[in-house]
Amino acid sequence: MARCVAGPLPVDAASNATAWNAVALDEATSPPPDGLTRFEWTGWPGRGPGLEILGDLTGARVAELGCGTGEHAALLPRHGTRQVYGVDVADARIQQARRRWRHVPGIMWLSGDAPAVLGGLPPLDVCYSIYGALWYAAPARVLPAIHARLMPGGLLAFSANAPRAGEPSGQRADNLAINGMRLPVIYYTHTAEEWRQLLLAQGFTDISFVHVTAPQSGPYKTLVVTARRPHN
Ligand SMILES: C[S@@+](CC[C@H](N)C(=O)[O-])C[C@H]1O[C@@H](n2cnc3c(N)ncnc32)[C@H](O)[C@@H]1O
Repeated sequence: MARCVAGPLPVDAASNATAWNAVALDEATSPPPDGLTRFEWTGWPGRGPGLEILGDLTGARVAELGCGTGEHAALLPRHGTRQVYGVDVADARIQQARRRWRHVPGIMWLSGDAPAVLGGLPPLDVCYSIYGALWYAAPARVLPAIHARLMPGGLLAFSANAPRAGEPSGQRADNLAINGMRLPVIYYTHTAEEWRQLLLAQGFTDISFVHVTAPQSGPYKTLVVTARRPHN
């Protein structure tokens, strides 16, 4: 499927799409890893919460923003979802997801910048992201788009790294090292309190956090965040 939203990408999304498309091409040379047996919100298998924080998914319309090659989204239809949308700005990753999970019914794979793609989706019960668009797209763009697309009472859940010791909050740049190349990525890092203020400013409620620390006290701390669009 071609990019589903026409027009130039914002600078962060364009940079990140280039990097993650390169990751997809690099990964295409090796066999895909086994699918997940557990819903992982962090890069440390078995640490932190699992699928339960999304609640009862029976009959739910669910979108994953920044789904990569789709391992998490592919787990959902067996939990009774009505429709799952896997969204990623890197078209090569979406193509991999579509090929890899073609035997799983009830998932639509969509290529594009998450805020723009959200505008074309039907109302959602759940919107989630795992180190995805909530980490790599500006909160000022992505949070209003999610709020607008969630049903009243709908759930947002996402994971993103908090700033490391000494790292300033806000927009940051890094490089992905792929095949000897260094490809720039742009990400957004915030403390729990900063996320609370960002979410409150967009009208979210019931905001809560799980703080997951790296094994062996590594430098990273991942925040698993949940919030709701109010019922009215
Ligand atoms: C670290 S990977 C995580 C992938 C997947 N969630 C996982 O856990 O394996 C980040 C993903 O977010 C995607 N992404 C970055 N910015 C995005 C945006 N603005 N809209 C949609 N996807 C985006 C990237 O293309 C990449 O596939």
